[in-house]
Amino acid sequence: MASGRPSNRKVLLLPGDGIGPEIMGEVLRIVDFFETRNLARFEVSEDLVGGAAFDKFGVPLTQETLERALESDAVLFGSVGGPKWEALPFALRPERGLLRLRKELDLFANLRPAVVFEALADASSLKHDLVAGLDLLIVRELTGGVYFGEPRGIETLADGSRRGINTEVYSDSEIERVVRVGFELARRRSGRLTEVDKANVMESGGLWREVAERVHADYPEVALSFMYADNCAMQLVRAPKQFDVIVTSNLFGDILSDCAAMLTGSLGMLPSASLGAPDRSGRRKALYEPVHGSAPDIAGKGLANPLAAILSFAMMLRYSFDMDEEAGLVERAVKGALEKGARTADIGAPQRASLATRAMGEAVLSELRKAA
Ligand code: IPM
Ligand code: MN
Repeated sequence: MASGRPSNRKVLLLPGDGIGPEIMGEVLRIVDFFETRNLARFEVSEDLVGGAAFDKFGVPLTQETLERALESDAVLFGSVGGPKWEALPFALRPERGLLRLRKELDLFANLRPAVVFEALADASSLKHDLVAGLDLLIVRELTGGVYFGEPRGIETLADGSRRGINTEVYSDSEIERVVRVGFELARRRSGRLTEVDKANVMESGGLWREVAERVHADYPEVALSFMYADNCAMQLVRAPKQFDVIVTSNLFGDILSDCAAMLTGSLGMLPSASLGAPDRSGRRKALYEPVHGSAPDIAGKGLANPLAAILSFAMMLRYSFDMDEEAGLVERAVKGALEKGARTADIGAPQRASLATRAMGEAVLSELRKAA
């Protein structure tokens, strides 16, 4: 097992709110496993984010936590938000903590793989044959577009009526850097890239197309196609296997990745990696998080599916620490646990007894123990 890399892999754990702490607890057990077996060492520290940070410090992300994130090799993020904080002013909402981390760490490329484990092909709301063997990757732009565009806000006009404003704005360089990530990944996979936009109604979408076409010249071996976002949503549920890599804006990527998640059986299965640009030494800032949210309805009950968080940890091994082999080990352990029938409620068949968060973590660990 490759363990020649320096031992101080600085990982900041931000469990957040709702089911975040429960699922991160299972990730920590896998970290422990790696350390006990001498497979890798991590320097893990933990901090508050989202509603948990607001309750203690009055803000969803403190300057200190942000600085710790900037100094880490990788951030492992749980989830943020919940009804308790919904009435807060926008700037203090838990979600702002996550958005600020993305922006300040300049994590512009969000990789959201949707892979269907054979054992779960029947858990999808789509027919088995439509999703069996599916392996697609959404590359979502993460630091621009309508999420951050100015002007934004709610204004009151002279006649007392109000107006809500958000702006979709992309510079060509913002588009280019994320489109390149899409091409690079497509080149290493099956060589197909679909750029998704609404160029039929949005000028910014037209720019996305132009830039993608220009960058394509550097990747002649990749087949580039274009698709409107509404059609893409439809195609994802009609014939998802036509896709390999999809690259798209922040908002469309948010929506389409929830859609892609359901193809895999449950939102509880989808991991993600948010990556910055590599620095001179080739290291990039990175944050890993499950695509699902804080699921307040089941929080604290030990029912949440920890697999998306565990698979996010595997992505960290692969993308931040070049530990492909170890990442594969974790992914195969998840696959093995599913093949043995381990199911949390979200992916369980109705007649099947479902496992708690902890028992699912245990099922993965027991596969790991056998393999490592
Ligand atoms: C996601 C989430 C976030 C987003 C929220 C929590 C701000 O839905 O990561 O997909 O909209 O980006
Ligand atoms: Mn989302």
